[in-house]
Amino acid sequence: MKGGPRASGLGQRPNNLVGARPEAPGPRPVRIAVLVSGHGTNLQSILDACARGEISGRVVVVASTTTTAYALVRARQAGVPAVVLAPRSFPDRQTYDARLAEVLQVHDIDLVCLAGFLRILTPAFVEQFRGRIMNIHPALLPAFGGVGMYGPHVHEAVLASGAKISGCTVHFVDETPDGGPIILQAAVPVRDDDSVESLAARIAEQEHHLYPEAIRLFAGGRLQVVGKRTLLLDAREQRHRQRSHAPDGAGRSVAISLAEESATGLRPSQ
Ligand code: GRF
Repeated sequence: MKGGPRASGLGQRPNNLVGARPEAPGPRPVRIAVLVSGHGTNLQSILDACARGEISGRVVVVASTTTTAYALVRARQAGVPAVVLAPRSFPDRQTYDARLAEVLQVHDIDLVCLAGFLRILTPAFVEQFRGRIMNIHPALLPAFGGVGMYGPHVHEAVLASGAKISGCTVHFVDETPDGGPIILQAAVPVRDDDSVESLAARIAEQEHHLYPEAIRLFAGGRLQVVGKRTLLLDAREQRHRQRSHAPDGAGRSVAISLAEESATGLRPSQ
């Protein structure tokens, strides 16, 4: 676990390996854990993107809160080991998260992706994996997020509010539910005749592009967290960072090209 990519200083091998060869080593393929509780369509999009070679990494373990999650079928079909950690088998959240962390460590995980995982992680877990936990939320955060905002509740609240635009957000996880630094967002217009189901379906379509894209950027060492903002490093800057082995974030200023921003930052659908 130690020495895996981090949100700042991503995709590089541990320092004790850097410099062992004359040329700077390439990024280590990211070992991904996906945490699920349900259908697993986001898990599938991540598995597919890895299989297509779009992400420098692979899903090495899936953890589910329930044996009935269809995501477990997807994991089996992809040949990925899966574990079920049922909350009622643990006395409290701390013990649950400690066991989860153990499982992830056994698999030497670099990145933890929450994909419909119906639990709020303890501060101790977040601390242990800080900068290496992502979540996807089916709205444009910071609106329509926080405790109780999951599944259909999110879309119900969006429709009730009269908002014209919703969407999805991939963000790093910190101690605040749905409150960590935003990585990418995609906008989805709300139609006058939308139901919870129709809006959810159009947003899900965007989620399945957005999450693999965020992971691709992480795996390429292209994300740097500065306070609440996640900066997208361009590929040249990332190469320079790798060559110089600069300490994370030290004295760096990052320019995001307009082209890149419009390609990955906020993508209107349709
Ligand atoms: C998605 O809508 C995601 O935004 C939210 O939970 C849902 C998971 O769906 N966090 P699936 O299990 O990936 O199909």
